[in-house]
Amino acid sequence: MDISRRKFLSRTSLAGAGLILPSQLGAWQLMEPAGNPAADPLQQDPDAVPVASARVKAFEQMGFGMFVHWGLYSQIGRGEWAMNMHGVPKEEYAKLMKTFTAKDFNGRELARLAKRAGMKYITHTSRHHDGFSLYDTRGLSDWDITHTPADRDLIRDFTDGCREEGIVPMLYCTTLDWTDERFKNDWKAYQEYLRASVKLLCTEYGSIGGFWFDGNWSKPNADWETDALYGVIREHQPEALIINNTGIGAGGKVGNPEIDSTTFERGRPEPIDRRGHPKYVAGEMCHTLNFHWGIATQDFNYLSPAHVIEELCGCRRAGTNLLMNIGPTATGAVPEYETALLKRVGDWIALHGGDDGPIYHGQSCGIQGEARDFGLRLDDEVYLFIFDLTPTADTRAHGKSRGGGKRAFLELDGDWKSAVWLDNDEELKVERGADGSLILNATRYPYGTNTVVRVARLKR
Ligand code: GLC
Repeated sequence: MDISRRKFLSRTSLAGAGLILPSQLGAWQLMEPAGNPAADPLQQDPDAVPVASARVKAFEQMGFGMFVHWGLYSQIGRGEWAMNMHGVPKEEYAKLMKTFTAKDFNGRELARLAKRAGMKYITHTSRHHDGFSLYDTRGLSDWDITHTPADRDLIRDFTDGCREEGIVPMLYCTTLDWTDERFKNDWKAYQEYLRASVKLLCTEYGSIGGFWFDGNWSKPNADWETDALYGVIREHQPEALIINNTGIGAGGKVGNPEIDSTTFERGRPEPIDRRGHPKYVAGEMCHTLNFHWGIATQDFNYLSPAHVIEELCGCRRAGTNLLMNIGPTATGAVPEYETALLKRVGDWIALHGGDDGPIYHGQSCGIQGEARDFGLRLDDEVYLFIFDLTPTADTRAHGKSRGGGKRAFLELDGDWKSAVWLDNDEELKVERGADGSLILNATRYPYGTNTVVRVARLKR
């Protein structure tokens, strides 16, 4: 099927279900009516799998997002936890407000980079654990952008810039706060402060794709008043996703029924078993390009483009999104390594079907190959993802290589006659194994090519 027909079919199926108007096709914010589309009350089957709301479905199809950690701490250059980990006193840390110019921050350029990288949304810190807000809190707190030399509200710059580039803006909101006295001394007032902050973010910056909370893990037994907090979002931005990071130890857990996606912080997501769940909840794995989220100038332990491509594929295998983090500099520029890396990942996505291809729209459906190989279904097509193919010459030259040759897949029925590599249209043979598995005869890369994970489309 050609791409335009596929796009038409997948979008009209939402329209057909009455969820969007034709004039709104592709518009994230308009894709779902308000309310919880949870289980059909008449449905009694305890193994029934709930249907994804249009909002959650659209989130899954965005597939790949950019996470941005940026704030006062970026001027220290030792990660976003610098204040806490290095015991910087509040008065000392507050001096960073005097030098925070944001002179190189440009929401639109950030959105352009995300687009170039094949990322469909950006989740940007609006306030991190140090308590400093990148937006005008209109008197809710003195620790905000209006108390710095920066001449603008950076969340407005960010949200406007995203929309100009067709990128969905989402906002990270800390719930843990190291500097606001209310966090320590007046829990009720702190909760009100949180809600008032979220209300501002909901009402002053146009349509927001989602809110990404982080920090409830710091006080697991506290009453975070999440019904009231999420109620603010449902009232003012009913189409926004609600996500609350469960932390490294509790990847994949769902708490409040308003949650739209589970998190897998630097985890290895597996397909989510949704049988018997009251609501279809998406999954998102967040990861960072080195070992810190805010810039750490002496952390050289960077991921490679190859690693990010493999992580992206691993997430799509499990049906989860990948939210990949960058930490801009003290003044808000994106460092050159991150820029270059993300462009390589964007090139890889473009080579494998781009916007309408399997990376975004392929469905995880249990097609499992050997080792990390897997398959995704997209409408009536199947795409096979092949890892660790040999580089051009001698397989011994590369530790992980399994070489070209036969790759078997289970849980893959259908009458498939051949396959074709997406990157160069080379025809490949397929056959059935004695155990019913489908076997792809994967050829080696031609000299001059190594795409890390190679994708083949099966043909009838
Ligand atoms: C952790 C960290 C935080 C970071 C987040 C991203 O919760 O506390 O610094 O923002 O992970 O997932």
